[in-house]
Amino acid sequence: MDFPYSVAHDFPLFLAPMAGVSESPFRQICRGYGADVVVSEFISSVGISLGIERVLAEMRFEPVERPIGIQIYGADATIMAQAAGMVTELFEPDFVDINFGCPVKKVVRNNGGSGCLKDMSLVRGIIRAVRDATSLPVTVKIRSGWDETQRDPVEIALRCQEAGAQALTLHPRTRTQMYQGAANWDEIAAVAQALEIPVIGNGDIRTPEDVLAMRTQTNCAGVMIARGSFGNPWLFAQARDLLEARAKRPDPTPAERFNTALEHARLALRLQGDTRTTALEFRKHFGWYTKGLRDASELRQRLFAIESMAEAEAIFCDYLYGSARSAA
Ligand SMILES: Cc1cc2nc3c(=O)[nH]c(=O)nc-3n(C[C@H](O)[C@H](O)[C@H](O)COP(=O)(O)O)c2cc1C
Repeated sequence: MDFPYSVAHDFPLFLAPMAGVSESPFRQICRGYGADVVVSEFISSVGISLGIERVLAEMRFEPVERPIGIQIYGADATIMAQAAGMVTELFEPDFVDINFGCPVKKVVRNNGGSGCLKDMSLVRGIIRAVRDATSLPVTVKIRSGWDETQRDPVEIALRCQEAGAQALTLHPRTRTQMYQGAANWDEIAAVAQALEIPVIGNGDIRTPEDVLAMRTQTNCAGVMIARGSFGNPWLFAQARDLLEARAKRPDPTPAERFNTALEHARLALRLQGDTRTTALEFRKHFGWYTKGLRDASELRQRLFAIESMAEAEAIFCDYLYGSARSAA
């Protein structure tokens, strides 16, 4: 199945769009560990169209991140089109992804994200308008429906394809489910079978083995990983090993985890500046990287108290070289 942008593998692995997580530093880390495609966190079409600097800053990326999609959301086709045109002109990503999956109240209240799924003519109108406004490929990310009564992923996906979506990601839960229950992979299989465009499966991939299982069970064209990547970018490389029928590389050692966390922190420092906000935002990554490690709780306590990225770097170096000293 051909993707509308170039990908390094027949069966690409995607880092999911994640607000507050899939920012440039983490995207770069995941690309380095084998994510084939990355997507920005969702960006407000209204914010883009108004040219709000903070919103525009969220879309910056570096060439090493390509192929990258910028994901936009909104419920007004004209504003979505304007935003897509600006994204194309200002940032030239590899594709524009439309978010029809976000369940967050403040987004769906204005019919953005999964709110659109209540009105398929709105979904179609947005896709058509965005396609007309950009020369880039346009892809969509959907849930299975608004709620159980309107649950019909195949119908929704067919309408998206008809309106011009060039690839589609399905997170097979409804909006009302939020993140409860299991993602229904059978729905990914049904959508993959019904569509001609590539269908990317998403939902509940926690291990490299899950990637193989989703491919086998659904016949999807690629998989997208969100929460499973938290503090664990190695998941991509390990999954690639399995996909290529190689022995799976071992889990990272504590030193490898720390080196990667440090590299991630340094990227954040360079790209986002050593502000208190960068440090506070980064705390969650520290928590994830240090999960399950020796003395993790004490270490996390220190890391959660940081006010600057420089402090974090010092704590990591201390842990790494301190433990090297005590091991010597
Ligand atoms: C912290 C967080 C932020 C998210 N932000 C977005 C977003 O900006 N756009 C989007 O389409 N989905 C977003 N999602 C949904 C994920 O992309 C994905 O569809 C969902 O988490 C299911 O995949 P998983 O089981 O691999 O986590 C977010 C999920 C999480 C956990």
